[in-house]
Amino acid sequence: MSEAILLVGGKGTRLHPLCTFTPKPLLLVAGVPLLTHQLARAAAAGVTRIVFATSYLAELFEREYGDGAGLGLELVYVTETEPLGTGGAIRNAARHLTCGPDEPVLVFNGDILSGLDIRGLRDGHVASGADVTLHLTRVADPRAYGLVPTDEHGRVMTFLEKPERPEEIVTDQINAGCYVFTRSVIDTIPEGRVVSVERETFPGLLASGALLRGVVDETYWLDLGTPSAFVTGSADLVRGHVSSPALPGPTGDALILPGARVDPLAVLTGGTAVCDGAVVEAGAVVEGSVVLPGARIGRGALVQRSVVGRDAVVGECTSVVEAVVGDHAHLGPHNEVPAGVRVDCGVHLPERAVRVSVPTHLG
Ligand code: GDD
Ligand code: MG
Repeated sequence: MSEAILLVGGKGTRLHPLCTFTPKPLLLVAGVPLLTHQLARAAAAGVTRIVFATSYLAELFEREYGDGAGLGLELVYVTETEPLGTGGAIRNAARHLTCGPDEPVLVFNGDILSGLDIRGLRDGHVASGADVTLHLTRVADPRAYGLVPTDEHGRVMTFLEKPERPEEIVTDQINAGCYVFTRSVIDTIPEGRVVSVERETFPGLLASGALLRGVVDETYWLDLGTPSAFVTGSADLVRGHVSSPALPGPTGDALILPGARVDPLAVLTGGTAVCDGAVVEAGAVVEGSVVLPGARIGRGALVQRSVVGRDAVVGECTSVVEAVVGDHAHLGPHNEVPAGVRVDCGVHLPERAVRVSVPTHLG
């Protein structure tokens, strides 16, 4: 018996407009919800019971996973009417744990794809007698994360969330969003108010002399919170750069889900995933992208490192490069959607409405 809390209450704003109708953890990554990959890995590591800390679009989680039997897990759902922040959410969810005060409790951010040895992290925590063990990873640019320098024994020295000044960048070790708490430590988090585990709980525990251990793990790790990370994570799963027990097919250049229709004269590369009910027409090239259910990629279109939302249409000969097309958006033929663009849900773009190059018929 091993329990966990899953933090899935965030609004996914950096992925806008992808989370308009779907919470970030339920977006399809390599054909199944991001969270399904995480839950399958947790179950494989011996986690048996998970309390979901939900808030934004809360009801969709229970609709997706029910009691968890399909995953071999017992799932419990707790909803914050007003988001309580990461620490407040952990405290609120802990009311539904069944374990004793000295038992380890895993806590997961809900937007991470990783190859972490979850069992090893938990067992190491128990053996060490620490108050909290944090999974750490190294990244080239740590500014968007929690910085966690450790001493030579792995003891956490400080915790600095999203530093703003250059002199604060003292390490490339960051909080990877998976913790093991000794249960009684969660019970010290104030109840019924907003608490950030990163900005309040960890610094407070360190100031009070608590033992926080950081375990640097160099296996695959990605936070899927931005459009570029999202498409990278999906493509990495499809190509087998990170393994998941939940991948719904063999690894390769592309994953075509049952119910999708891809013309034999279309080209799918770079770990593209085409979901149920989606259509890719002849001559289209789709590279390193996510084509969500019911979307249609027209003849001769080019889609690179992009997400095409549910039931969205990319018209004939239209290109979409490093962009996000919201659910039900309709891009008419011969448009060019350049890098960084976010097309809102339901938007209709007429033929040749958005261009980077000069249309040939004018030249
Ligand atoms: N229930 C609940 N309530 N969940 C929340 C709330 C809340 O008020 N706020 C955020 N969450 C959930 C999100 O759904 C997500 O799964 C997780 O908490 C982390 O939130 P993000 O919004 O993704 O945070 P971040 O990516 O900017 O930073 C966090 O993750 C980084 C690693 O990916 C921090 O923990 C950083 O320290 C860390 O480096
Ligand atoms: Mg995140």
